[in-house]
Amino acid sequence: MKVTVKAPANIAFIKYWGKKNEKLRIPANSSISMNLSDAFSVTSVDFDNRLKEDVVKIDDVVSAGGERERVARHLSLVRKMAGKSDYAEVVSKNNFPKASGIASSASGFAALTLAASLAAGLKLSEKDLSILARLGSGSACRSIPDGFVEWRQGSKSEDSFAFSLYPADYWDICDVIAVIGQASKKVSSTEGHTLAESSPFYKTRILGMPQKVKEIKLALRNKDFTRFGEILEAEAVNMHTVMMTSNPPLFYWTPKTLEIILKVIEWRSRGLKVYFTIDAGPNVHIICEEKNVKKLKNNLLMLGDVKEVLINRPAVGARVINLP
Ligand code: DP6
Repeated sequence: MKVTVKAPANIAFIKYWGKKNEKLRIPANSSISMNLSDAFSVTSVDFDNRLKEDVVKIDDVVSAGGERERVARHLSLVRKMAGKSDYAEVVSKNNFPKASGIASSASGFAALTLAASLAAGLKLSEKDLSILARLGSGSACRSIPDGFVEWRQGSKSEDSFAFSLYPADYWDICDVIAVIGQASKKVSSTEGHTLAESSPFYKTRILGMPQKVKEIKLALRNKDFTRFGEILEAEAVNMHTVMMTSNPPLFYWTPKTLEIILKVIEWRSRGLKVYFTIDAGPNVHIICEEKNVKKLKNNLLMLGDVKEVLINRPAVGARVINLP
């Protein structure tokens, strides 16, 4: 029985960087995110007793090595839960090009989790789906519920999951991604997380997290865009400070990243309300209100270095798109 699922990528306003338990992907802090309307994975899973091993195809390329292993490990968790032994064929496509620098692990593992669990005959709750997705990739647990999401860190596997704070239509803000190029990442986020603790600033970062989460949730509740933007921008710089001061240091920014950061600050000083955030890559996500999207996009396209501008609005979480 083949099941196909569409799941969004998400952008974190309060980030997940550092784990309390590496294997179980229990984060050192809670995080807050928004699902993205125009960056998603569509994944089909079909268990088939004729297969001799799991077959994984991502963006028309058959996976091998570590990439295939990570998916096969996830399928084995599902098999164990369902008491099944058949291998599966997994076909996954991302609507965003690899070169866009948007991480596909969140959308990919969220889609894989829902599709594989249904294809194996399981009917899991949203909470259990989020827990299972987390075991594949931490940020994937936030792509299961709808809209604006909180991943509460929890202390053990059963209580570390994400849930919706508000639906996608709650607030019309956008994530405008300035794509400035992407050589594939030298250090993956999974490796990066393990380095976080070596930064002298990591402990301070983690200590400040509960208050930060509380404040951004208040700004979200009040739809206070200025406060919301101030918090999310400072948070991105805070995470990148930990990255840059870990041992060995991680520099995900390029000179172009910094150029755009400075532009965002300049545009803001001229009255355009825009704030930046950055994940484990060079591209800049600029958060703005819907009314400012056009102006922001034009500004970005005038900068010679921006290759592409991707506009994302808040979106629902993982959904089945073909019913078996
Ligand atoms: C910088 O979820 O990719 O995007 O759990 O090892 O798969 P793994 O890590 P991953 O880390 C995401 C890091 C981040 C911040 C965030 O999305 O919260």
